[in-house]
Amino acid sequence: MSNQETTLETWKQIWTRKGLADSSVTDLLAYDGYEATKVDMEEVARQIAKRLDIQKNDKVLEVGCGAGALAQYLDCDYVGIDYSPTLVRKHIEILHNSVLTGEAADLPFKDKSFDKVICYGVYLYFDNKEYADKATKELLRVAKKGVLIGEIPMRSHRTEHLLFNKEDFQGWDISDGFYDPYRKDRFNAVYLFS
Ligand SMILES: C[S@@+](CC[C@H](N)C(=O)[O-])C[C@H]1O[C@@H](n2cnc3c(N)ncnc32)[C@H](O)[C@@H]1O
Repeated sequence: MSNQETTLETWKQIWTRKGLADSSVTDLLAYDGYEATKVDMEEVARQIAKRLDIQKNDKVLEVGCGAGALAQYLDCDYVGIDYSPTLVRKHIEILHNSVLTGEAADLPFKDKSFDKVICYGVYLYFDNKEYADKATKELLRVAKKGVLIGEIPMRSHRTEHLLFNKEDFQGWDISDGFYDPYRKDRFNAVYLFS
C-alpha cells in the first residue's frame, strides 16, 4: 500500500470508528466531528439552502453526509453518501434517510441525477489534490442546477488536513465559510449551472 493510500485509510478508519460510538450518543454533531465546535448547524443548513435555493421538491445529494448533523435540517428530497459504513448505518437508524456507502471521487450515480449537490466539511479529509479534483468533477457531473462545497480549508490546526487556495476553484463563486466566518481560514465554493 502506498503512503497516500495509508493516509486515506487512516481518515476512513477514524470516521468508521466515530460511527461505532455507543448508541446512547444521540448527538449527531459528535458523530460528524463537530463536538469541539460551536457550530449552529441549523443556521448552516439555512445558509446552504439559501445559496442553492433548495426547494422541498428538489432532489439533493449530500456527499460526505456522515450521520446527518447537517442533513437533519435539510428539507428536500434528500440522498446521502459517505465512505464510512458505520456513519451511514447511524444516519439511516437516526434519520431514516436514503443513504449509501461510497467514495466522493467515484459516485455511483448517472450524470445530472440530482438538482443540487452539497459537500460540506469534507474536502479537508481528502488524500490529495488529485483526489479532490476527481471529487469536484464528480459533484459537477451528477448535478443539474448547482453544487456547494463548504468549509474548504486554507489553513488548519491539524497538519493532516488537506489545504486549498481559492485559486483551486477558478470559475466558482467563493465566499467565507459558514460556521466560523470570523477566522476566514475556510471558504465555500458555489457553482450554479446557467
Ligand atoms: C466533518 S464530517 C461532515 C458530515 C456532514 N457533511 C455534516 O456536515 O454533518 C466529514 C464526513 O466526510 C466523510 N468523508 C471524508 N472523506 C470522504 C470521501 N473521500 N468520500 C466520502 N465521504 C468522505 C466522513 O466519513 C465524514 O462523515
